[in-house]
Amino acid sequence: MTTQTVQKTLDRRALDSLFAGRHTTNTFTDIPVDAKLVQAAYDDARFAPISMNSQPLRLTLVEKGQPRLKLVEHMMDGNKAKTEAAPLSIVVAYDPDWHLNMDELFPAVPGVRENLASQPENRHAMGRDNAFIQFGYLLLALRAYGLEVGPMTGIDAAGIDAAFHTENGWKAIAVVNVGHAPNPEDEQAQFPRGKRLEFSEISQTR
Ligand SMILES: Cc1cc2nc3c(=O)[nH]c(=O)nc-3n(C[C@H](O)[C@H](O)[C@H](O)COP(=O)(O)O)c2cc1C
Repeated sequence: MTTQTVQKTLDRRALDSLFAGRHTTNTFTDIPVDAKLVQAAYDDARFAPISMNSQPLRLTLVEKGQPRLKLVEHMMDGNKAKTEAAPLSIVVAYDPDWHLNMDELFPAVPGVRENLASQPENRHAMGRDNAFIQFGYLLLALRAYGLEVGPMTGIDAAGIDAAFHTENGWKAIAVVNVGHAPNPEDEQAQFPRGKRLEFSEISQTR
C-alpha cells in the first residue's frame, strides 16, 4: 500500500465521539429523551447507503409504563431490567412490504416493485439485512446527537411482533435503549472495553 496522508472530514474529537470515546450503555440518567432528537438522528442516518435505497427500517418508540412492560415481557432475562428502566426503548424492525415504495425510492431502475411482488422470501432477507445496516447508522447518528445507546438482539421477535406489529406486519430485529450519559458512579452502566481486532487481523490484500 502506498503511503498517503489520511484525509479526514471529521476531526479526532468528532470521530471519538462516535467510536472509541463512546460505550454501549446499560443504565442511563433519569432525564427523558425527546423524540425530536431521535427524529433528527433518523433524518441524518437515512441518507447513508443501503441496497437499492430500499429503506426497510421501521421504528416503534416505546414509552415507560404499560407499553414498556409489554415490551419487557419479550426481552431475554438479562435485558429485562435495563429495558424497563431506560428513558426510551425503541423496537427496531423491517417492513416486509418495503418494495411498495420502490418506484419513488429507486427511480433509477424501474420495475423493482413489480419484480419483488412475487418474491416474499427475497423481500424478507433483503429487508432484514438492510434494516440492520440502517440500524447501525442510526446508532451512530444517535451518538452524534449526544445520546447513549444500548442495542439488544436478545429478544423474542415473534412475541414483540404479536404485541406491537399486528396492524402493520413489521418484523422485529432488535431493541435499543436510549438515554443520556450514565451516572459515572454506576459501574453497571457500561462494561469494561473489550479488545478490538486489528486491521491486519481482519483484512487481506490480493
Ligand atoms: C446488534 C447488537 C446486538 C446486541 N445484543 C445485546 C444484548 O442482547 N444484550 C446486551 O446486553 N448487549 C447487547 N449488545 C451490546 C454489545 O455487547 C456491545 O455493543 C459490544 O460488546 C461493545 O461494547 P462497548 O461499546 O462497551 O465496547 C448488542 C449490540 C449490538 C450492536
